Amino acid sequence: IKNIKELAGIVTDAATKYHAGGQMAILNSIDDAYLIIEDDVIAAFGSMCDLKPQHFDEEIDASGKTLLPAWCDSHTHLVFPATREIEYIDKIKGLSYEDIARRGGGILNSAKTMVNMPEQQLFDDAWQRLHEIARWGTGAVEIKSGYGLSLDSELKMLRVIKRLKQKSELSIKSTFLGAHALPAEYKNNREGYLRLIIDEMLPAIAHENLADYIDVFCDKGFFTVDETDKILKAGARYNLPPKIHANELDFSGGVQIGVKHKARSVDHLEFVGEKEIAALLNSDTMPTVLPGAAFFLNMRYAPVRQMISAGLPLALATDFNPGSSPSGNMQWIISMASVLYKMLPNEAINAVTLNGAYAMGIEEVLGSITLGKKANLILTKAIPNIAYIPYYYGENKVDTIFINGKIINA
Ligand code: NIG
Ligand code: FE
Repeated sequence: IKNIKELAGIVTDAATKYHAGGQMAILNSIDDAYLIIEDDVIAAFGSMCDLKPQHFDEEIDASGKTLLPAWCDSHTHLVFPATREIEYIDKIKGLSYEDIARRGGGILNSAKTMVNMPEQQLFDDAWQRLHEIARWGTGAVEIKSGYGLSLDSELKMLRVIKRLKQKSELSIKSTFLGAHALPAEYKNNREGYLRLIIDEMLPAIAHENLADYIDVFCDKGFFTVDETDKILKAGARYNLPPKIHANELDFSGGVQIGVKHKARSVDHLEFVGEKEIAALLNSDTMPTVLPGAAFFLNMRYAPVRQMISAGLPLALATDFNPGSSPSGNMQWIISMASVLYKMLPNEAINAVTLNGAYAMGIEEVLGSITLGKKANLILTKAIPNIAYIPYYYGENKVDTIFINGKIINA
């Protein structure tokens, strides 16, 4: 790829796992650059003036265009049985997320639809969504179960994710979220549902090798800190590190219990104060903010500036799901990060690339322009500068996306 106007998101030192605090505002770049892909990896890059004349099988002229690492979307629920517009209307009329959940809507509504959903249909729909997010520049994605809430349905969802992993060029991580909500039939038997997760679901999932991570919705009205503790302990016996839903609806203790269990990430974080920040500062856990859900539920926003000033790293993800964030568009996430959270464009781009990669455990192979990393790259249309990406928010800035070194036209 020649004559790249700006090659951005460069990490020269492969040991850099993520950007934190003040480093988040630094997006290393080279003007008028080239990049060489060999097979599926980044083999070389630098200034055009240093490019030695040599033969290439294919050359792309990127005049006026910017080359970036493809986005790593570290939190989605993109395998789901149906959209939920009815609840959307109820929300407009004034019902809260918890009101809807309490009367059997929300996650339980999706779980009900899931029962009769053929696995193939679930797969086909998710396959379309993968194409959709790739067109917006996503090259890696984490996908959760959690609309099953029974042994059969959770396995069905996780098997779909496994097939997506096998068939798709995108890098996919799979997360078991049996503790997404308490199923209606366990309303008076919380202990029974925990037993089902721990004694039946987890062994079956481990047996078929269906998950990379374990998740719990540790929040008011969903699962308590004690319950989360039990589930994460059980997950650890099967080598499933946590990536959890925490502090979306209250100061739930989710952040602290996640850090205690060495979670890869704790996600949502609308309710974060000094204690949560202190817990995160001495940890390897990536705080992850989901602007799509905060915007769509219009409740409260994570204190992102305070977190970054304290020196924390931060990842951003879509939370693509039918209830609280019906979009997998990472460019829109970058725009919301700047408008709603006052993140600089550079900070937001670091949050959806290297930091997103870390939040899903793939930072050694993806998330930055680094020699030897996989060539999952976004070539933008001709744009004046990086800030234009979040600024001109309605347009898809992707011209070409490279996944494993191969071109996919957007
Ligand atoms: O991440 N917060 C919990 N779970 C999802 C919502 C899922 C749904 O409403 O279907 C979320 O926002
Ligand atoms: Fe979520």
